[in-house]
Amino acid sequence: MRLAIVGYGKMGKEIERLAIERGWNVDIHIDIDTPPVTKAQRENIDVVIHFATAKNIINDLTPWAEAHKPIVVGTTGWQEQLQSIKTLVTKNQIGLIYASNFSLGVNIFFHLIKTASQMMDKFEDYDAFIQEIHHKNKIDSPSGTALTMGQIILENLRRKKELLNETSHNKIRPEQLHISSTRSGTVVGTHTLAFDSAADSIELKHTAKDRSGFALGTLFAAEWIRDKKGLFTMDDAFQDIFNQGNR
Ligand SMILES: NC(=O)c1ccc[n+]([C@@H]2O[C@H](COP(=O)([O-])OP(=O)(O)OC[C@H]3O[C@@H](n4cnc5c(N)ncnc54)[C@H](OP(=O)(O)O)[C@@H]3O)[C@@H](O)[C@H]2O)c1
Repeated sequence: MRLAIVGYGKMGKEIERLAIERGWNVDIHIDIDTPPVTKAQRENIDVVIHFATAKNIINDLTPWAEAHKPIVVGTTGWQEQLQSIKTLVTKNQIGLIYASNFSLGVNIFFHLIKTASQMMDKFEDYDAFIQEIHHKNKIDSPSGTALTMGQIILENLRRKKELLNETSHNKIRPEQLHISSTRSGTVVGTHTLAFDSAADSIELKHTAKDRSGFALGTLFAAEWIRDKKGLFTMDDAFQDIFNQGNR
């Protein structure tokens, strides 16, 4: 496997370390000041991985899409550009997989949240909220993972109808699902979903210990997307694993 990594920060470096460990080649890594990649260099790449910033994502991905290369997007904070990403995928007939969190553990966590929300849908005494904590250098807030958790809850817990991501200076409405964010220190990423009633409280919590979980999931996604066409999320790749298990 020959990779190009766009964004050579904490995640880009961890992905490169683990890719090399498994005998893959990282032929290109692009940072903000890297000279433009030539067409010939681009041709040799099997999969492109984007872990940079959301601001230039369409410009970053366009030349790779036009070269018909499959793409893995780990960068978060670009949800309002989803339509442009869809157009890029359709126009160039490529495969693109994105996820707010590629970690295997978090994707299992998402499935637990779905099941828990479906159960809690039948127990009206329990209210729900989300808390997330990340290192002080994280640029987007709330985290993409917390937003995905919120979407899963909105789809499965019918009494919650909208997300409240900002500080509330008034009483929260019952149909709002509050997501609170804390930024401090070096915390890799902690996400909690709590169900609270007058009698007790139930918490589902995921704590990332280092970045290797994200990087391993990203490499899994790179292998998965290699021969596919269309727009996918990690949930599609996960369903594939479950379906294989049921065969
Ligand atoms: N999906 C997941 O599983 C997952 C997991 C962890 C993080 N993330 C997301 O991945 C992104 C990167 O995280 P990180 O922790 O690696 O951040 P980081 O350490 O700040 O790295 C980002 C890197 O990308 C570079 N960059 C910015 N714009 C670029 C561009 N247009 N072209 C090429 N390189 C560019 C930055 O350069 P400068 O420093 O020079 O600006 C920096 O080196 C964030 O959006 C984060 O939320 C996703």
